[in-house]
Amino acid sequence: MLVGSGSFAQHCSPAYDVSMVVSELSTDVQRLLAAIVAIAQAQHIRIFLVGGGVRDLLLGVDAGRDIDLAVEGDVSALTATLLTQLPLRLVAQHTSFGTATLITNGSPARLVIDLARTRVEHYPQPAVLPEISPAPLAEDLVRRDFSINALAIELFVDNEILHTGELIDPFGGVRDLAARQLRILHPQSFRDDPTRILRGLRLAARLDLQLVPTTAAVLSDALAAEYLGLLSVERIQNELCLMLGEPSPAAVVQRADTWRVSSALAPGLHWSPALAEAELRLQHALATGQITTSANLLFAGLLTYSLNAAARTAFLQHYRLPTEFSRLVVEIGALHELLPRIMAIKYESALEQSLRPFSDAALLVVHYAEQTPASDRIGHYVQKLRPLAPLLDGRDLQRLGVSPGPQLRRAARYAPRCTARWPCRNTRGG
Ligand code: CTP
Repeated sequence: MLVGSGSFAQHCSPAYDVSMVVSELSTDVQRLLAAIVAIAQAQHIRIFLVGGGVRDLLLGVDAGRDIDLAVEGDVSALTATLLTQLPLRLVAQHTSFGTATLITNGSPARLVIDLARTRVEHYPQPAVLPEISPAPLAEDLVRRDFSINALAIELFVDNEILHTGELIDPFGGVRDLAARQLRILHPQSFRDDPTRILRGLRLAARLDLQLVPTTAAVLSDALAAEYLGLLSVERIQNELCLMLGEPSPAAVVQRADTWRVSSALAPGLHWSPALAEAELRLQHALATGQITTSANLLFAGLLTYSLNAAARTAFLQHYRLPTEFSRLVVEIGALHELLPRIMAIKYESALEQSLRPFSDAALLVVHYAEQTPASDRIGHYVQKLRPLAPLLDGRDLQRLGVSPGPQLRRAARYAPRCTARWPCRNTRGG
């Protein structure tokens, strides 16, 4: 097993020891890698840690949940042996692309291993999937998106101990990482694969990177040529989902504004200080366990919050969103219309009736997006009142003989409340 530790600052020196970087992987990950590499070596296959995993290791970020391995050899044959000899399960395999995704059965728990045959790519047209052919690692790095992702470390095993080769960094990825710069590898990059624009946004926001001038110029040409518009809805949707999983989705939108990409994603989408503040409030509520609704859903609501009715409709028509997301966008629109009337609602029972149809997510988004008495009241309702759904409503009381009028309103307002969550109303059987 490798030993030692180190920080990125140390590794920026020209002669740093890459084995120190890999030693930062947990012991059980190193053990699994050693076993995989030993099997590859027995088949005379060279194997490399590659891409964002190397980048993250250099930054000292835990890359332990998803490991990309570039394989100079037959991925299908290697996969077949790995599956028979190691506690791994096959998740997906594309023989024509020479890729396989495996997941651990035991320790380390649920680690995903992506194997990919080293290859060159040829894009016959903009934004289509590439034609590929096997090639050595050096050519495989050339087909990648950014210098900071075109990094590799060869892995070896000797006496069951994992060893590393030199860091392979043909485009100055380490230099760019240290200088916080984002650089594409060739002028056709965004034309070949416009998703790289969106990948770049995420990386730039996450790692606080600036575009180098040459890449900024290529981006500007790519936007003018509208290459993003050539991508399928599914591919953009996939990137939007990844954006929601970033530490700060609002920071991604801020970059999208700076790069002039926002309107290509959704007309009307833009960053504002209010959005950043709302995101901070939401992050805090999630981190402290005040709310447990899906973070992705809430961030999606927050990012689309400022869209006007027309932009919202266009957004829903363009992206075939999963039901809960499209429902959220529709509900937020309806809540916008309701907001001006919220403070005029006198009784809690009436407030409950007005807000009952809305999901927790929509109400929480409005609460965290706005800071007005009306949104505070919505927050009070969803966080305090809704969990205490009324045991008896006006109709129940009428059934019990209370006649309609002020007396019924008062009784409904002060009716005892059950402490179960909201859906208990539907299971009372009445
Ligand atoms: N890659 C690429 N072009 C793409 C997608 C991926 O060049 N359109 C390459 C990059 O070298 C990238 C690697 O494939 O590092 C792995 O892709 P992925 O796992 O999607 O990216 P990561 O860099 O690991 O990003 P993240 O940290 O967001 O998981």
